[in-house]
Amino acid sequence: MATQDLVVRIGGEGGEGVISCGEILSKAVARGGLNIHAFRTFPAEIRGGLAMFQLRGSDGPARSLSQSVDVLCAMNHCGYDAYVHNIKDTGVLVYDPAFVTLDDRLGGRRRIELPLDEISKEVTGASRAKNMVAMGAMLAIFGPPVEYGVKLVADHFGKKGEDVVRMNQGAVEAGYKFAMEHMVELRRPFKLQPGRDEILVTGNEACALGAIAAGVEFVPGYPITPATPIFEFLCRELPKFGGKAVQFEDEIATLAAGIGASFAGKRVLTPTSGPGLSLMSETLNLAAMTECPITIINVMRGGPSTGMPTKTEQSDLKFAIYGTSGESPRCIMAPLDIYDCFWQTVRGVRIAEKYQMPVIILTDQALAYTSQNIPTPDLSEVDLGERLTPPLDQDRETFERYAVTETGVSPMPIPGVHDLMYMATGLEHNPKGAPNYTPKMHELMTQQRFAKLKALGKRIVHQHKVEEYEPEDTEIGVIGWGSTYGAIAEALENIERDTGVRIAHLHPRILSPLPEWRIRQFLGPLKKLIVPEENYTGQYAHFLKGKFGIKPIEIHKAHGIPFSSEELEKSIKEHL
Ligand code: COA
Repeated sequence: MATQDLVVRIGGEGGEGVISCGEILSKAVARGGLNIHAFRTFPAEIRGGLAMFQLRGSDGPARSLSQSVDVLCAMNHCGYDAYVHNIKDTGVLVYDPAFVTLDDRLGGRRRIELPLDEISKEVTGASRAKNMVAMGAMLAIFGPPVEYGVKLVADHFGKKGEDVVRMNQGAVEAGYKFAMEHMVELRRPFKLQPGRDEILVTGNEACALGAIAAGVEFVPGYPITPATPIFEFLCRELPKFGGKAVQFEDEIATLAAGIGASFAGKRVLTPTSGPGLSLMSETLNLAAMTECPITIINVMRGGPSTGMPTKTEQSDLKFAIYGTSGESPRCIMAPLDIYDCFWQTVRGVRIAEKYQMPVIILTDQALAYTSQNIPTPDLSEVDLGERLTPPLDQDRETFERYAVTETGVSPMPIPGVHDLMYMATGLEHNPKGAPNYTPKMHELMTQQRFAKLKALGKRIVHQHKVEEYEPEDTEIGVIGWGSTYGAIAEALENIERDTGVRIAHLHPRILSPLPEWRIRQFLGPLKKLIVPEENYTGQYAHFLKGKFGIKPIEIHKAHGIPFSSEELEKSIKEHL
């Protein structure tokens, strides 16, 4: 439980440096030893439009976005206009009086003038560094020493040259000093604990680190928001571990190259987002037909089509499960927080290799761009798993690449390692890989491909860790998936604290195949099931309805911004 919790939102225009301000601030606050949850949202344009960064710092767990804020720092009028209504009644507006015109919407809430532009001009001779004045002031409120900010500014702007660094460091110091003189009452008595064994990463970075830890050797990619940072990270870092990341002309070529590398024995992962996944759909079938392991991280964004590339949505679930011509098996997973992004990526690659089939990991824009400090992953816990290969002395005549087995997994030779040849094409084939379309063979091979899902499903029953909270005396339960975990968990904790009503919570990480036995057990004592999702049509609820014949209460949100715990608390209370 948190004893101190502070939510600061910085609002301004794209190009003004709101994001740099938030990124540096989060790092400084995390280094100070607070738990942070840092969320950003920005327009698809390079300049203009509304940019926002929200930092929640807490000495307890900071698991979700908070809708209402303690401090709104409005860099200009658009930041004020968009967020004034989110300031708590007890909260404070910090604003640049030269660029913000106050109105009735502020009501009786407190306000403090922070002349960002004037201070920046005074200290640096230009307006450019006004975001760093804001950074310094907000840092003072959280409590870590100004030196943290000054050092991080050097890291952040180092590539822009010494002059830029010095100018910004001056601005940070000036902002910090101003806050210590004029806003000292906003400081919370946080107990700072620097030096914890943690890393501060975004969901995208955690996935990219997971890919490296999982032994991924080849990352074909095509840039697409909001998945691009995974690709950029791996282009930079993977070669240090002996791997390669290569950009192709589009997502079709990307996945085709991935299948080629996988056929040749490499561990392959590719990041993409909705429209990219659509383009990959036919090639994904080829991966299923040739039984080539491949992992796709699909960072969901608001759709359809180009939609809202910089906004979040959980709307690719149906496409991920069912988006296939013909019937091809794939495993669908969804990490539930930043830490989980690391571990589910490791696990996804292992499942792909072990079951020789495509795995799609669904994250989303909110998870991708949210940063949190997480425990440094213990690499000794990484289980790489192995692809089943034939013995080196395997007889060529009797070898069957697609031999029928109970688990659907048969030995896969590596060209150049095993002296075995076989055909791997999109055509239906016999166990040796030769084209064969007889009704019996199609039935047999379809069964063989789907046996993988059955085998995985059985393992989930015994080994699948479902994040769960299940008090004995409850008749109400919530099932969620993906990045809504933190907001649901916090909402349920608050409901229990305020009303005494205990609500069970299940949050499966593998969505398809479903952990059927576990879900049935969870549903058993329930009279009411609530399924909140960040999409318009209730995609997971539909899936559950189809499987279990239930009628859950559905809570939908498709605004491009994730659920906050307050929003969920309110909606769930309406159904109690
Ligand atoms: N001194 C010097 N440079 C500064 C600065 C300062 N005090 N503050 C910010 N900057 C620089 C940043 O380093 C950055 O430079 P870079 O472009 O060389 O990296 C630039 O100004 C923008 O600042 P930043 O803080 O990163 O962002 P912002 O809050 O101004 O918002 C974005 C700009 C992020 C909204 C916009 O640039 C963007 O990327 N939009 C999304 C584009 C997209 O993905 N579209 C979808 C396509 S499908």
